[in-house]
Amino acid sequence: MGKVVVVTSGKGGVGKTTTTAALGAALAREGKEVVVVDFDVGLRNLDLMMGAERRVVYDLINVVQSDAKLPQALIRDKRLESLWLLPASQTRDKDALNEAGVASVISQLRKRFDWIICDSPAGIERGAILAMRHADIAVIVTNPEISSVRDSDRIIGMLDSKTERVENGEHVDKHLLVERYDPARVARGEMLGLDDVIDLLAIPLLGVIPESEEVLRASNLGAPVTISNPSGAAARAFADAARRLAGEEVEMIIPSEKKRLFGGLFGGRAA
Ligand SMILES: Nc1ncnc2c1ncn2[C@@H]1O[C@H](COP(=O)(O)OP(=O)(O)OP(=O)(O)O)[C@@H](O)[C@H]1O
Ligand SMILES: [Mg+2]
Repeated sequence: MGKVVVVTSGKGGVGKTTTTAALGAALAREGKEVVVVDFDVGLRNLDLMMGAERRVVYDLINVVQSDAKLPQALIRDKRLESLWLLPASQTRDKDALNEAGVASVISQLRKRFDWIICDSPAGIERGAILAMRHADIAVIVTNPEISSVRDSDRIIGMLDSKTERVENGEHVDKHLLVERYDPARVARGEMLGLDDVIDLLAIPLLGVIPESEEVLRASNLGAPVTISNPSGAAARAFADAARRLAGEEVEMIIPSEKKRLFGGLFGGRAA
C-alpha cells in the first residue's frame, strides 16, 4: 500500500507546488511509482510545473464525480515513466470535491502507487482539509518569516485534529521543510534563523531549500527542478529531503553564505 503525503503550509506562495513536483520527481528517479495530485481546485498550478498543461483531459473532480475513471485522468510524465500527475480543474467551483469521492480516489491510488503526494491549496479551510484528510505524512512548507511560521503552526493544529488517522487514534507524521532560505538575509536579520523556525514549530526538519533562481527557471520550463537541474543546490536539497522522507539517513546541508560573500568580494555589489 502506498503512502499518502500532503504538502501543506497554511500561507500561500511559500513553495508547496514547487515542493510537490520536486519531491515527486526525486522519488520517481529512485524508481518508485509516484503520483502527484493537485488539490488546488481553481488555481491548478501543478500541471504547469510538471509541463503537462496541454495534456489535461480529465481531472480529479471528474473522477470524484464519476464522470471519468481514474486511469483516464492520470497523465504519465514524459521524462520519468514512474511519475504520474492527477491534475485539478481550473474552471469548476471549489465545492466540487466531496469527501466520499476523495476517499475513494485516494484508496484507488494507494493500491497502484508507492507514493501519493497531494499538493494542498493555501489557507486553512475546506480545500486544505480535504487535501490533508487521508495523509499518513505531512510536509509542512515554511518560509523563514513570522507570518509563514504562524500559519504553519495553525496547519499543524489541523493535522492533529482533522485527519482520518488522528480520528482513528493514530498520528500523522509531520516534517518541516524550510523553503526559500536565504542565508544572506538571515545574516542581516531580515529573515528568521533556522533554529528559531525549528524551535517555534517543534517538528523534525526534513530539509532546507535555498532561495534559488534555478527553481524559477525550472517552473518556467515546466519541469520539476529535480529533473531540469538535478546537480544544482536546490535540487540536491529536494533530493536529500525525498530520501529522508523514504526513511534514509542523509546528512543535512544548511545553505551557507559563502558563495554570496565570494561574489560580494570579487564580483562587486549591485548598488
Ligand atoms: N527555493 C526557491 N527559490 C526561488 N523561488 C522559489 C523557490 N521555491 C518556490 N519559489 C517560487 O515561489 C513562487 C511560489 O511557489 P509555489 O507556487 O510553489 O508556492 P505555493 O505554496 O504552491 O503557492 P500557492 O499557495 O499559491 O499554491 C513561485 O514563483 C516559485 O517559483
Ligand atoms: Mg500551489
